[in-house]
Amino acid sequence: MKKFLVLMPLAALIACQSMPITPAVSPVSMVPQPLLVEVEEGQSPAILEQPVRFVNLKTAEFALTGAWPQAEDGFPIVFRGGYSPEDFHGGQGAAGAYSLDVYADSIVVHTESDAGRYNALATLMQLVPVEHWPTEKGGALKLGFEIAPVHIEDQPRYAYRGMHLDVCRHFMPIEFIEKYIDNLALHKFNRFHWHLTEDQGWRIEIKKYPKLTEVGAWRSASQTGAYSEQRFDSTRHGGFYTQEEARHIVDYAAKRGITVIPEIEMPGHSLAALAAYPELSCTGGSFEVAHGWGVFDDVYCAGNPEVYAFLEGVLDEIMDIFPSPLIHIGGDECPKTRWASCSKCQAEMARNSLKNEHELQSHFITRMERYLNAHGRNIIGWDEILEGGLAPNAAVMSWRGVSGGIQAASMEHNVVMTPGKPLYFDHYQYNPEEEPVAIGGFNSLADVYAFNPVEGVPAEYHAYILGAQANVWTEYMETSDHVEHMVQPRASALSEVLWLGGKRPGDAAAFTQAMDYHVQRLIAMGWNYAPYEFEKAAGDEAQ
Ligand code: ACM
Ligand code: ZN
Repeated sequence: MKKFLVLMPLAALIACQSMPITPAVSPVSMVPQPLLVEVEEGQSPAILEQPVRFVNLKTAEFALTGAWPQAEDGFPIVFRGGYSPEDFHGGQGAAGAYSLDVYADSIVVHTESDAGRYNALATLMQLVPVEHWPTEKGGALKLGFEIAPVHIEDQPRYAYRGMHLDVCRHFMPIEFIEKYIDNLALHKFNRFHWHLTEDQGWRIEIKKYPKLTEVGAWRSASQTGAYSEQRFDSTRHGGFYTQEEARHIVDYAAKRGITVIPEIEMPGHSLAALAAYPELSCTGGSFEVAHGWGVFDDVYCAGNPEVYAFLEGVLDEIMDIFPSPLIHIGGDECPKTRWASCSKCQAEMARNSLKNEHELQSHFITRMERYLNAHGRNIIGWDEILEGGLAPNAAVMSWRGVSGGIQAASMEHNVVMTPGKPLYFDHYQYNPEEEPVAIGGFNSLADVYAFNPVEGVPAEYHAYILGAQANVWTEYMETSDHVEHMVQPRASALSEVLWLGGKRPGDAAAFTQAMDYHVQRLIAMGWNYAPYEFEKAAGDEAQ
């Protein structure tokens, strides 16, 4: 980051106004911070007192524009091509670059891409004083504010800027999925990894296999409290998304520049599916949708052709709903216990000269990869898919640290870094003694802000590190309010890491200062958040 200049005491912006016009927001409050922000000294701000007119914003429907009251002869916000960043991020920047200039009589964006248009609009929203944001979902900005006379040039460092959500351990209503995506859009994340199937619940309607949701979406009890207590309630819990709802989410996300990556777990974490269709297991069952957390021995049988046919049928419908080029096939935490004593699995190993059950898992994943590749999609899976041989075109999500990611990158496979430390947002974050019960571990805001996705990766393989993602597993989050508390402010910190490929000038202290204003945006969105001052995080001592 060579060029970076933000010099604007807020007081300077509070020019004498005869009308009640809200003064401009300081651009340093933006999260993630744009790469280059210059305030043009002596130039007048834009005063947005009237509806706007989007000029040349022809492509698709940009949902963020819905917040801006529009009129034929309104204040012009002009979109043009002709921006190509040259030396940002040492030439390793991702698509989505734009420039944005605020003049007294217009706002001009230059960009070559839809991603650049989304990014510019997200920046523009953050330049609007928060008290002018819509107070209702789908509402409009309240006019009567200034926008600082800035020149912004901006480009993300990483192409994959993701957040995950597990809706299986606890089901989350569709309205919250929209709200989750709103939070991603605010922070210029561009991937939503939707974890849709698990031992504890199957959450997506599959028309060919209705029992997946009739049976697999519901459990008769759930574990509560700390894991060590082994307590269970006796409440029926569950829910699922209809295909229509899932398509709505895909569209809702797309209008905010976000791709939804569905995850269908295989061969493990599949007990809910086996409860619905026990014939897909090695033993034949019977099974219940899991009540407790953990890893379960009963998984899809790797020697039964019906299993592959079933998963292909599921994936046919998944591909029809989700246009994402990447489909997540899970692949994590699959015990080999049942396979070791299953005659069908052993026969499959013999037929294919597989030396052990790890190779059988690789055979399973590779077979599913061939199916998805034949339909124009690529697979991404958790780093266990490296064991027994990586499928030829697979991307890897490195969760057990970064070593799996480094290994995959050095094999010239694409990688998304999601190491448990610091990117599991189900861990404690500021002071375990004061926080709601979590799974354990401690990932402070400072840990997240210090994360570097390419650390330890040899420079010649940096191009394979697509980016990073935080994972939000919900065993210990029964409500969406609790999810929000676990996600923020850590997602804000991650957004900046992924955008800047590092930290803003002034480091953590400057980030905290930005958060002083930025939390008002979270509040305006009705979003809960945990303490964000770095010095308040006492968890390191508490651990
Ligand atoms: C995982 O946390 N099992 C990917
Ligand atoms: Zn088997």
